[in-house]
Amino acid sequence: MRKALMAVLATAAVLIPATPPAQAHDRSLRDAAPRYLRIGSAVAGGGHHVDQPYPDPFPNDRAYRKVLAREFSSVSPENQMKWEFIHPGRDEYNFGPADAIVAFARKNGQVVRGHTLLWHSQNPDWLAEGTFTKAELRKILRDHIVTVVGHYRGKIQQWDVANEIFNENGEYRQENIFIRELGPGIVADAFRWAHQADPRAQLFLNDYGVDWPGVKVDAYHALAQQLLAARVPLHGFASQAHLSMRYGAPDQLASVLQRFDDLGLHTAITELDVRMDLPATGVPTADQLATQAVYYKTVLDACLAVAGCNSFTLWGFTDKYSWVPVFFPAEGAATVMWDDFGKKPAYYTLLRTLARA
Ligand code: XIL
Repeated sequence: MRKALMAVLATAAVLIPATPPAQAHDRSLRDAAPRYLRIGSAVAGGGHHVDQPYPDPFPNDRAYRKVLAREFSSVSPENQMKWEFIHPGRDEYNFGPADAIVAFARKNGQVVRGHTLLWHSQNPDWLAEGTFTKAELRKILRDHIVTVVGHYRGKIQQWDVANEIFNENGEYRQENIFIRELGPGIVADAFRWAHQADPRAQLFLNDYGVDWPGVKVDAYHALAQQLLAARVPLHGFASQAHLSMRYGAPDQLASVLQRFDDLGLHTAITELDVRMDLPATGVPTADQLATQAVYYKTVLDACLAVAGCNSFTLWGFTDKYSWVPVFFPAEGAATVMWDDFGKKPAYYTLLRTLARA
């Protein structure tokens, strides 16, 4: 009798759709997402982690790796492919940590976003403080791009070729050694070299502060048009989307992304997090968590609304390893999970939104 009842219940469980919350609890972000859309996370390691009282996260934290594999279909090395890590000496490359991420991705059916090739920050001292002729500097950049992109040829879905090349006024950043010394034309060369080294990788411009219309977005739009007109292999424009609850949710982001989509480019969200001012307790209020969920949803909805937005990446998924408290004093709690990987309202909002898309 009991057996018969169990059988009936088992059949019913298959036939009767579970209520959304129950279903939502069982699925992961990557399972809930539409097939064309990759859901990614940064892979914690290097950078600010080096000064924290814990071992390098990705190689050492098994529980972390389990969530990373379960929830995400794309991974981005948080620091492990930046110049200072992967190219620590002029004639020295260190591929080990990034290779481990690429191998993990392959094993878990994930794509990899390469980050990054032309940037003003996190460059090794030998580069930042060296003296080079223009010809030498150009060769250094070319060799780096050909070597690194070539090393991962066929294994990278999208490369952030140029990162943060404009300042807030939409001018080329003079802190970028290559732009300062060689002129803005070097950006096109970087794309050309990357394309030669891996013709299948989608090549991106990537920046923060491009979530609202404004001069910075206009500068990227003009550059994208120029590069495309010159047949430079540019394939995408990405918003990092490092957001703070001090400034409001980016409710015009879809229209920004659409401008680039209209040029025939892919678009992506590459580094989403939503930081907040923490109360004295250090614990966000229920209201703050609800507001944070709205921010996350605003960004996801923008990506979902734009046909060519095919990649949506969080800059880490747990507060345990977030860069935010280290870089933005008094702000924190920016990711979708607590230190123990417990899920915040923002996580469930993303899950529901993906499941309905
Ligand atoms: C951050 C990392 O998260 C930190 O670990 C590191 O110390 C500094 O860089 N824009 C980018 C990312 O393109 O590479 C930055 O990552 C965050 C801002």
